[in-house]
Amino acid sequence: MYFDSHAHINNENYTDAQRAELIAAIEASDVSYVVDVGFDLESSVLAAAHARRYPWCYAAAGFHPHNAKDMDEEAFLLIRGLARKEEVVAVGEIGLDYYRNISAREEQEYWFRRQIALALELGKPIIIHDRDANDDVCRILKEEGVFRRAPAGLLLHCFSGSRDLALQYVKLGAMISIAGPVTYKNARKAAEVAEAVPLDRLLIETDAPYLTPEPFRGRPNSSPLVAYTAARIAEIRGMQPEALARATLENAVKFFGID
Ligand code: NI
Repeated sequence: MYFDSHAHINNENYTDAQRAELIAAIEASDVSYVVDVGFDLESSVLAAAHARRYPWCYAAAGFHPHNAKDMDEEAFLLIRGLARKEEVVAVGEIGLDYYRNISAREEQEYWFRRQIALALELGKPIIIHDRDANDDVCRILKEEGVFRRAPAGLLLHCFSGSRDLALQYVKLGAMISIAGPVTYKNARKAAEVAEAVPLDRLLIETDAPYLTPEPFRGRPNSSPLVAYTAARIAEIRGMQPEALARATLENAVKFFGID
């Protein structure tokens, strides 16, 4: 029983046949829940449609920092309309990406702040994407008052920062989600994070179709492979994989407010 807290069943490159196959594979697997995470308007609409259609699927709506350049007031209002829906359990993924800088930093920051404010207004959790922007992401979250809510409805998706930063977020009330890279041989930092985060703050995810865990690295990722990430984290923590799976599932159900 696994909860994949972050996947993109809404990925625009899937054909209908590929998506149907992916969904069948999830339904035949040990994965009990998936959050289909939006990254622009179309993907957020599609994620919400999947959440209405499949009982195991929930959605998040938002603009990824790469797509900030395509956001405007009209798109923001449509995201707002989606984020209010019951099947849309979070605003995300939102944040900053200074690794690829596909959108200008000013645009990224502007829409990041607007979407944080939206989540706070609607009382929905936030899913953060942070790549090479640790300091600015943390500063903006503080400035926008995210941590004044206790516990903060905040999830750091595919956490790639240091152990110290993870523990700082934990102290501020956030959840940390770990993805496939923790299974890679050179993933010292991810392993330190996987070991240090308290069990009640830990979530697992695939970020499918990206970040495929070993031993399937190089192939497209899918939610059932979250089991390999869970197994590796359990090994690092000296736990049974089933116990790790159960704890992270319970954490995610509680975090996203799923009955
Ligand atoms: Ni993602």
